[in-house]
Amino acid sequence: MLSATEQAVTRSPDNRSLASASPQERALGILRQLHGFRDCELVQWRVLGTGGQGQTLSASRTDGTPVWKDHHQIAVKLFDSDSPEVDFAIGRQFETLRILHAMLDGRFIEGWNVRVPRPLSQCNSTLGLAMTIVPGDCLHGQLLRADRRSAEHIMSSYGSIAESLRRYWENNQRMYGDLQLENILCDLESQTISLVDPGIPCTIWKWEEAPNEWYPASRDLSYLLFDAAARSLKIFLTNPGTARRLNQLTERILHSFVSTVNPRSARLALLDEIRTCTQLHIAQLTSQRDVRGLWCSWVRRTASRSIEGTLRRVREQSDQPLEFPDHGVANGVIQSQGGRT
Ligand SMILES: Nc1ncnc2c1ncn2[C@@H]1O[C@H](COP(=O)(O)OP(=O)(O)OP(=O)(O)O)[C@@H](O)[C@H]1O
Ligand SMILES: [Mg+2]
Repeated sequence: MLSATEQAVTRSPDNRSLASASPQERALGILRQLHGFRDCELVQWRVLGTGGQGQTLSASRTDGTPVWKDHHQIAVKLFDSDSPEVDFAIGRQFETLRILHAMLDGRFIEGWNVRVPRPLSQCNSTLGLAMTIVPGDCLHGQLLRADRRSAEHIMSSYGSIAESLRRYWENNQRMYGDLQLENILCDLESQTISLVDPGIPCTIWKWEEAPNEWYPASRDLSYLLFDAAARSLKIFLTNPGTARRLNQLTERILHSFVSTVNPRSARLALLDEIRTCTQLHIAQLTSQRDVRGLWCSWVRRTASRSIEGTLRRVREQSDQPLEFPDHGVANGVIQSQGGRT
């Protein structure tokens, strides 16, 4: 738990000062709220990623001493002031990280170390949050660069990912949110997976209109499948091997989770609910009559076929353990959950 002095003050955004401040100035403002943060002029910055909601930076010190307490690096995520539901997104990410960190960080699960950043401070005036650093590069990028041997090693993390998520869903009626292969990091050397960037970018993803017996697992798994299918289409022509692996990895994660569910009728209900949610994601793709509209309608048809194939295979094979070298499947049995947060 953070002490009261470590927690950030939350205020409403001031769009004028946000627009004139550089990302580093904003991030520094957030770091300054950490009790014990010192010597800000010696901080150097690195961009960790730029996404739809904003930018994530890491701070370290040029003299090699810790940035805060014994942490040599701290990550600061900055949200765009014009992104929809930004206050909701910051609060949601902070709270979901807090829960995930307490539940999973430092555990050894299905042969892999699991890490989750510890959120340190949240600031609604500069629209950002500070958190500890975790190891690894995103699975999507790793698979793009990997040779065949390391790709198999990376993909063997599926059991750990599925079991980590299972524990989270079982104990929280709360979606992970942006569950996709760019938000799962992997470090082969230390055999670690790290879970980052949780929280729902927009509330529509809760899909209130879909059945919710398997909420929140059905929502997160449907997005994972949808995102991998859409992403793999984008790279299919240039990199068919990686495109196939992206889908295989999500299929293994899905299979691994689904095979822990009993009885069979519950497994089938879960898969039906996931299917409904993937269809809602696909239906969201725009259908204008221009080039982008044509592209979207092709993605819609092809992603839909790919997802149907994955769900069919998992449905047919979920009574049996996965047959891949070196790993088993989780043996836990969970029941359907109902309810939503
Ligand atoms: N605590 C952290 N430790 C180490 N790396 C991190 C941490 N947080 C984020 N990263 C890295 O930065 C990248 C971008 O961060 P994040 O996923 O939070 O934002 P994003 O995806 O760029 O934004 P959006 O939420 O808009 O999609 C991640 O994919 C990961 O590689
Ligand atoms: Mg991300």
